[in-house]
Amino acid sequence: MIELKNVCKRFGDKEILKGISAIMEAGKANLIIGASGSGKTVLMKCMVGLLEVDAGEILYDGISFSSMSNAERKHIRKEIGMLFQGAALFDSMTVEQNVMFPLEMFSNLSYRERKKRVDACLARVNLQDAHKKYPAEISGGMKKRVGIARAIVLNPKYLFCDEPNSGLDPQTSMLIDKLIHEITVEYNITTVINTHDMNSVMEIGDHIVYLYEGKKQWEGSNKDIIFSKDEKLNQFIFASQFLQDAKEMRQQELLNQRSGTG
Ligand SMILES: Nc1ncnc2c1ncn2[C@@H]1O[C@H](COP(=O)(O)OP(=O)(O)O)[C@@H](O)[C@H]1O
Ligand SMILES: [Mg+2]
Repeated sequence: MIELKNVCKRFGDKEILKGISAIMEAGKANLIIGASGSGKTVLMKCMVGLLEVDAGEILYDGISFSSMSNAERKHIRKEIGMLFQGAALFDSMTVEQNVMFPLEMFSNLSYRERKKRVDACLARVNLQDAHKKYPAEISGGMKKRVGIARAIVLNPKYLFCDEPNSGLDPQTSMLIDKLIHEITVEYNITTVINTHDMNSVMEIGDHIVYLYEGKKQWEGSNKDIIFSKDEKLNQFIFASQFLQDAKEMRQQELLNQRSGTG
């Protein structure tokens, strides 16, 4: 579990995060959603310590990350997996070498043990035959899978994904989302996902924090969204008339079901 308490961040005189509080739970896909520029990436960078907060606090399972020394943070960093935008694989390394890299940096495992772990992670993301391929030789969706395998190779307790679907077609996006969600539940990981993809929101949004101009505008689950009356949220999620109509139809359907069974 990760707890945000009144997190504030500014650059110069520009306030970016204006006091954000939320709890990111274990075993759930915690989505941070919001328009481009609303502060999602800055918030994630504060959470992993790439940026320092100006005020407020971030706690990892009750321990204040914000007030830790760099040496103390190292222990938490080892438990963090990150899936970077565009997967950020090393081009000169094979798929297998990419996934093995964190093990070489942070574990004392023998080569055989490392290889076994890499094979297991690549199998988990359904990439059995790509070990010897280079990033340039595989598709965007496969690259993301490799990125996920690399992010989970050290058995992280916390997983951060910044726009995991950027550059993917809707169907591949959905597969990647579902994979991240499955892994989150399977290993009870506290997963935080930045996205502005409305498919992700509806598919895997166990817990959603909607940022609007650096503030938490709304919080809830994908099920709550259908009935939410928050105007800004509705405009953001159901941007087109088509989606607004779809929402209303779904709302009616759910209401009918409820009255039918109740
Ligand atoms: N290092 C920085 N210095 C100054 N301004 C920044 C910096 N990083 C981000 N910003 C600003 O913070 C705001 C939020 O950015 P960001 O978190 O990247 O938005 P999002 O990820 O939601 O699209 C933007 O206005 C952006 O220009
Ligand atoms: Mg961003």
